[in-house]
Amino acid sequence: MANPYEIAYQQSIHDPDSFWGEAAQDCHWYKKWERVFNDSNAPFFRWFAGGELNTCYNALDIHIDNGRGDQNALIYDSPVTDTIKKFTYRQLRDEVAQFAGVLASRGVQKGDRVIIYMPMIPEAAIAMLACARLGAVHSVVFGGFAANELATRINDASPKVIVSASCGIEVKRIVRYKPLLDGAIEMAEAKPKCCIILQRPMETASMIKGRDIDWNEAMSKAEPHGCVPVQSTDPLYILYTSGTTGQPKGVVRDNGGHMVALKWSMKAIYNVDQGDVYWTASDVGWVVGHSYIVYAPLLKGCTTILYEGKPIGTPDAGAFWRVISEHKVKALFTAPTAFRAIKREDPDAGLMKKYDLSNLKTLFLAGERLDPDTLHWAEKHLGIPVIDHWWQTETGWGIAANCMGIYHFPVKPGSPTKAVPGWDVRVVDPDNKPVKAGEIGALVVKLPLPPGSLLTLWNNDERYVGSYMEEFPGYYKTADAGFIDEDGYIYVMTRTDDIINVAGHRLSTGAIEEVLADHPEVAECAVLGVDDQIKGQVPIGFLVLNAGVTRNHDEIIKEVVQMVRDRIGPITSFKTAAIVKRLPKTRSGKILRGTMRNIADNKEYKMPATIDDPVTLNEIEEALNHIGYAKARK
Ligand code: COA
Ligand code: AMP
Repeated sequence: MANPYEIAYQQSIHDPDSFWGEAAQDCHWYKKWERVFNDSNAPFFRWFAGGELNTCYNALDIHIDNGRGDQNALIYDSPVTDTIKKFTYRQLRDEVAQFAGVLASRGVQKGDRVIIYMPMIPEAAIAMLACARLGAVHSVVFGGFAANELATRINDASPKVIVSASCGIEVKRIVRYKPLLDGAIEMAEAKPKCCIILQRPMETASMIKGRDIDWNEAMSKAEPHGCVPVQSTDPLYILYTSGTTGQPKGVVRDNGGHMVALKWSMKAIYNVDQGDVYWTASDVGWVVGHSYIVYAPLLKGCTTILYEGKPIGTPDAGAFWRVISEHKVKALFTAPTAFRAIKREDPDAGLMKKYDLSNLKTLFLAGERLDPDTLHWAEKHLGIPVIDHWWQTETGWGIAANCMGIYHFPVKPGSPTKAVPGWDVRVVDPDNKPVKAGEIGALVVKLPLPPGSLLTLWNNDERYVGSYMEEFPGYYKTADAGFIDEDGYIYVMTRTDDIINVAGHRLSTGAIEEVLADHPEVAECAVLGVDDQIKGQVPIGFLVLNAGVTRNHDEIIKEVVQMVRDRIGPITSFKTAAIVKRLPKTRSGKILRGTMRNIADNKEYKMPATIDDPVTLNEIEEALNHIGYAKARK
């Protein structure tokens, strides 16, 4: 008998209309779609055109209408504030409807943008769902970004309202959000009409009269708002992600395709059913948080956990095990970096043994390459399947995975297993020709992309086509390189652009370079991602100073580090830079980034034949030694 994965996969590729049409029957529509799939305006593909729905209705109200109103929808677990708060589907729906009323009273309507700049608190999810309820388009900005990054997003999305909180809580400090928000609005040209601020007990933000309103006060006066039907193809949200310049890309997601794909994925990939407790330990500011903290688990009728804490330090490396046992979590999804951090603090997993983890059936990891050490450690200590899966902000859900609800393939370390139904993944050479099994090339996806993936980039159809569709005609360019072996297992090796992955967070080295180049004493610079035991990669800078600068180098390094922190945010983990006389380049002027990275990582490197000046590489090594890298070469 054919393998059930093969059957599903083949149907999804060869008959997507019936495959996704069937999946869509599992959702509520006010009006049925006219066509499952529409490619009349390729490469702007559309799913379920003509259909009308409301994503919030499908995530909340429908479960109440189906008699599950008293089931927990969301559990807020916050070790940093010592709080556990549970919301049933009815309670969450009521809060969301009330906040939708607040937004509506401020003039927010279908199609208007709302920026949400909040820490990991239930109000972040409430604000997102309230936008969906009104048909407004939310854009969540991760709390670890600085004012300048927020300003860029405000300018691009021109929100009518911004929703924020007085502070976020990191392990060792309180992050005051309001000064960052005020600074961003001051910098931005597009000014929101109003800001709704949740005052948290640990920090009271000062309010600007006439612009800022208090969340609680507004909630007490509002009237609950119902669900507004929207077109399947209407945007649900914009999520900005790093591009190759300082200008982030605003990934646009639709309502209908997103709902269908995400709900389907909960059973197919994660093997969870309604009523199960599902936990994604990430942040609502990232795509993983959008899809698998908020939308997918609620669409499926699961109980989702919203965790305001870290894998270590809140209070110790047993934090995850405590949450799993306390809330009877069935599936956990996080980034490998979280497990590397736990492993370093508690290598024998002694803390794990203190808790009952019998409900946990599967661990899912994504966001960066899963190194075999971390895979084996998790498998050994948890004794359950550990599933790597590969996806991107653009795709919105898994491109490759071991689909646990369809068929469990043997795990091959280093591979996120096979293409998920809907994704026709190929490997091609620079001439867009297929390569043989096992050969490395560009990982691309044959068009069209399945439902749930990006519609376009906000305000920038041209960049959408230019970034993803042009280099390999007929395919979506993932900008990852890798290979597919003879069994169809996909291996994702490295990015082909200047994006680096720091603790599962995607950063552009180009954007950091733009900040460094702004230092008055820096003539030229380069930023590279170098190996880091916990975070996978961290960025380090190489600076060439202007002629005649005699100031203390350590001082200059401190200044650029602070500049990156202030302009992009602490999340860059940019802590150091090496000052060099020249950057090594080829004769045609290309910086030898790969060679520099190998030196920093103590890896073998060949002197490139085209190098302009071999002496520079020795200088690079010395400068790296000075800041604690390339030590093995000394
Ligand atoms: N708001 C403000 N600042 C934030 C922040 C937020 N929401 N999130 C992180 N930061 C800050 C941190 O405080 C830290 O600042 P510091 O330089 O002053 O110490 C900096 O940004 C870097 O943060 P992070 O990369 O999280 O490092 P960390 O040392 O605090 O923690 C880990 C390390 C491994 C525990 C942490 O990275 C982690 O939990 N990773 C999980 C990754 C994840 O969920 N990825 C999502 C994609 S699936
Ligand atoms: P983001 O858009 O932040 O989700 O980052 C997407 C990028 O993270 C991908 O293009 C990959 O480079 C990397 N990535 C995500 N998941 C995996 C994985 N399972 N294995 C290897 N790389 C991954």
